[in-house]
Amino acid sequence: MHYFDHSATTPLHPQVKNLMDEVGELHFGNPSSVHSFGRKARALIETARKQMATAIGCKPQEIIFTSGGTETNNLVLWDVARSDKKHVVTSVIEHPAILKTLENLSDFGVTFTSVGVDEKGLVDPQDVENAITDETGLISIMLANNEVGTIQPITDISAIAKQHSIMLHSDAVQALGKIPINVKELGVDCMSFSAHKFYGPKGVGALFIKNGIKLKPLIYGGSQERAMRAGTENTIGVTGMGLAAELAAKNVVTSADHFHSLTETFKKQLKKILPNAVYHGHPNHHLPGLISVSFPGYRNDLLMAHLDRRGIAVSSGSACSSGDVKPSKILSAMNVDDDLNICTLRISFGLGNTLEEVTILTKAINSSLEQIRSAA
Ligand SMILES: Cc1ncc(COP(=O)(O)O)c(C=O)c1O
Repeated sequence: MHYFDHSATTPLHPQVKNLMDEVGELHFGNPSSVHSFGRKARALIETARKQMATAIGCKPQEIIFTSGGTETNNLVLWDVARSDKKHVVTSVIEHPAILKTLENLSDFGVTFTSVGVDEKGLVDPQDVENAITDETGLISIMLANNEVGTIQPITDISAIAKQHSIMLHSDAVQALGKIPINVKELGVDCMSFSAHKFYGPKGVGALFIKNGIKLKPLIYGGSQERAMRAGTENTIGVTGMGLAAELAAKNVVTSADHFHSLTETFKKQLKKILPNAVYHGHPNHHLPGLISVSFPGYRNDLLMAHLDRRGIAVSSGSACSSGDVKPSKILSAMNVDDDLNICTLRISFGLGNTLEEVTILTKAINSSLEQIRSAA
């Protein structure tokens, strides 16, 4: 089996797994307990907070642990429903954890404007500025897109947000471990992360929230996470996230080089098989290792099924819309016509993939295309 769907999720890093096993076995205390079991668990969580903070260039007290990217995005957006200014500026290519949440927050008086993107998937900061109204309380634009990998001009958008004194949130779930992230340089007020996208566990996330910014909690109860996120902490998961973030940030340059060589090899090999393959996303502002490619004339559901039979795991569009043959909204927003849209696969490389596996992938694509052609 060969896995090329790391934008959907990644396996646990072996070091992360070992640490989590150890914590689960030995350090089961409740971090709020005052005895030594509790104090040990508390210390582990605070170490993870420091690791997460160092990985993204902020202070430990600016990190809140949550149950994942979806909850983190919800935490930020639900705050708008309880603020005076209930209008949000976002983009059409955000993850459903943003767009579906905003749609449902209409019940609470929230309205939003989603700006479009160009054919490379890039948001124009001027469009963001034009969408601001007197009622705008939040701008939420993702750092990098999950389907096509385009990296957004967050520093330019930050300058606009500051000029208008509007809070800026960015969903960076896809970015950590693939590109260097420094929240201060990016100029964001809040940022969302999810451990399972960078070799950490599923069901754990983090919110960066700049000192001085106040958000109302989404979950009430005890005073965990500075009363921003109640509930006994997931010590095993949080500890895993901390180490995964440290490793992801430390190895980001070598990881990017690895992804780059896998991508270049794939493109060279695919060119020989299918010279008219069409790549999507920005050529320069792009997550390394994420390839969105159309196979004109070959429907992605068929192609994926053929690849799956050959032991190859890739995705059609994003994981959340897989199993659904409708054209991807993100590609449509990038002006990709429906015929090409439904012929698109997302291939996302991971740290464990090798050049030999790339050759196995392109050979499997070749034989799948041949089989589809002969059955037509
Ligand atoms: C850009 C983006 N945001 C948010 C999420 C949701 O994160 P989680 O799976 O941790 O809830 C995902 C997951 O696919 C994502 O790609």
